[in-house]
Amino acid sequence: MKKKVILDCDPGSDDAVAIMLAWFSDDIDLMAITTVNGNRIVPKTTENALRMVQFLHAGVPVYRGCGDPIICNEIPSRKPNLPRVTLNDCHGDFLPLPEAKIQPQPEHAVFYLVRTLMESDGDIYVAATAPLTNIAMALRIEPRIAGKIKQLVIMGGAICGANASPSAEFNFYADPEAAKIVMDTDIPKVILPLDATWRACITEEQCQELAALGTPAAKFAATMSQKRIDNLKVNDISQHNFDLRHTPGTVASAVLYRYDNTMAPIHDALTIAYLIDPSVITEWVDANVDIEIMSGICDGRMVADIHNTKKGRDPVTARVALNADAAKFTAMLFENLGRK
Ligand code: RIB
Ligand code: CA
Repeated sequence: MKKKVILDCDPGSDDAVAIMLAWFSDDIDLMAITTVNGNRIVPKTTENALRMVQFLHAGVPVYRGCGDPIICNEIPSRKPNLPRVTLNDCHGDFLPLPEAKIQPQPEHAVFYLVRTLMESDGDIYVAATAPLTNIAMALRIEPRIAGKIKQLVIMGGAICGANASPSAEFNFYADPEAAKIVMDTDIPKVILPLDATWRACITEEQCQELAALGTPAAKFAATMSQKRIDNLKVNDISQHNFDLRHTPGTVASAVLYRYDNTMAPIHDALTIAYLIDPSVITEWVDANVDIEIMSGICDGRMVADIHNTKKGRDPVTARVALNADAAKFTAMLFENLGRK
């Protein structure tokens, strides 16, 4: 039975691979794509989503969403690097595909989410690979959608590691209040933080193998992945990450290791891989998860009580992935994007 999935995203090179993986998978019925401000302003993320649908001849409806975070941009000092209008980063303003000739749906993404979820039998999965503004706004308009989402799989946050500030991951940093609104619900949530996505990297060699499959999707995914690897080199982003070793009975000890920049994570695609086969996540903890929203140096940081320091006084609100099976992930990319 296919999983009905709405993908909320901000294409975005890794969002683009997530869209393709969802489209080609036999296990997923990609109902719609909703776009939001994130990697780029929402006119650009929407254009990029339309370019992907056009490229795939997919016919999946695209709904344009929120153009600004809920409140944090009202305090410019909180988000000095946002919005990401034009940057030499791993995304670029526009995906290297023909300009979209198709249009987004007339309905706003937030109203689409509310209407579709409320009309549903509670059998819709939502994959969120961007700042959570659309989902948080939908919850504010109609809180009952919390009981209608079958499972919310979120790429965001980090136990150790960061990429938008010294303490936060981009999707949660870009709209901390939205992330907190979502975390505070009892929606069945799975969070794939940097700790998991950085363990499911694709290598340069695999990019070449992917391209050699020869399908348009595989070649485009290889291009997006290589762009991400090259960006790590050019910007000398030493994506430090911590290999959290759980020593039973004691606080986790973190061992800093430095990634070899001949590989890169395809963060967002791991959310789709998880929906296809949850065993792609090999370690997780069910924990209470909160988001820092009081600005300061930890603005937007995810705080997951993975050691249950509150001894159960706080509710478990998410399953937090800590590790992933890179071989299984890349095999899924090859299998699905290599389809003729
Ligand atoms: O931190 C990684 C996330 O930020 C991904 O969703 C990527 O697309 C960017 O939005
Ligand atoms: Ca994204």
